[in-house]
Amino acid sequence: MHALITGGAGFIGSHLAEALIAQGHRVTVLDDLSTGRHENVAALDGHPQFQMVVGSILNEALVDKLVERCDVVFHLAAAVGVELIIKKPLESMLTNIRGSEVVLEMAHRYRRKVLIASTSEIYGKNAHGPFKEEDDRVLGSPLKSRWSYSTSKAVDEILAYVYWKEKGVPTVIVRLFNTVGPRQSGAYGMVVPRFVARALAGQPLQVHGDGRQSRCFLHVRDVVSALITLAGHAGAVGRVFNLGSQEEVTIEELAKRVIRITRSASRVEYVPYEQAYEEGFEDMPRRVPDIRKIRDAIGFQPTMTLDEIIQSVVDSMRPPARTPTEVSGPGARAMPVRR
Ligand SMILES: NC(=O)c1ccc[n+]([C@@H]2O[C@H](COP(=O)([O-])OP(=O)(O)OC[C@H]3O[C@@H](n4cnc5c(N)ncnc54)[C@H](O)[C@@H]3O)[C@@H](O)[C@H]2O)c1
Repeated sequence: MHALITGGAGFIGSHLAEALIAQGHRVTVLDDLSTGRHENVAALDGHPQFQMVVGSILNEALVDKLVERCDVVFHLAAAVGVELIIKKPLESMLTNIRGSEVVLEMAHRYRRKVLIASTSEIYGKNAHGPFKEEDDRVLGSPLKSRWSYSTSKAVDEILAYVYWKEKGVPTVIVRLFNTVGPRQSGAYGMVVPRFVARALAGQPLQVHGDGRQSRCFLHVRDVVSALITLAGHAGAVGRVFNLGSQEEVTIEELAKRVIRITRSASRVEYVPYEQAYEEGFEDMPRRVPDIRKIRDAIGFQPTMTLDEIIQSVVDSMRPPARTPTEVSGPGARAMPVRR
């Protein structure tokens, strides 16, 4: 299989690229490196089955060429993260809506399968749950940038669905709930890498609001494995699937667990939403997926506990332990340090 991964130099995309290459597939990554990084796929550089193209999904001619050459598209490129959406609302809307339209149109032109990454933000501030795929979306005013990410991804879902229904393009929609693991950047508001970085630095962990909002975190390894299985499953076409963990934790408890696992002396600090984001910011009180549909379709089951997930992020962010030859001070011998 030759897979095109849009957003493949990002957090999830880079793990997906590695997993596909390890399974013997060919991979082309298209990424504009806006939030992704070349280092994320550096381990694949020079691999005969791997190609990295720096460019935008908004570049129609480029997307046309790349889609024509592949068998399947994993469409992950998007403006991601609440903070980024609030800072750059127009650019984010254009990337998410126009970009997906370009990808889907080219998939239509060449009759390619597209797996499209949507989000649990789709459910908005619906306070119930666990959410089934058919549940209602509950959103605030469209003028609140908080909801524009959810809306842009809903438009993507509609486009993917109608391209399937009206034009027969084989599309699969996957609603990712919070995904974590090595390489996720905390720079755009992602909570686990932020907490871990602060705990390791001995700085206070900033919990937004009262910290009683709850989330479920799935390791990127489980996400990638499910995405690949769904892409190869004929019964997934034309359908939408939640993909997440059901181990629910409040953000306050998450902060405490990170402190415990890192054995940090950090404390928890509470920051009002208005201060963290913008005036009138609204959050989701609870976000838990119903995963029966994806379990029935492909036997999906999370394989890691939350503590194990946090530990894997800690291991990836902790500076490597210094070897005895690197220790300086009285009695230390001057020896060359090999890195
Ligand atoms: N990480 C999560 O918890 C989560 C949850 C729900 C949904 N998702 C979805 O999964 C996908 C991947 O997210 P991620 O967490 O890996 O984020 P990420 O920011 O690491 O990845 C997104 C990638 O898209 C690239 N990109 C952005 N605009 C582009 C453009 N115009 N052209 C080409 N590339 C562009 C970025 O440079 C980045 O590499 C996104 O579609 C996101 O909405 C992620």
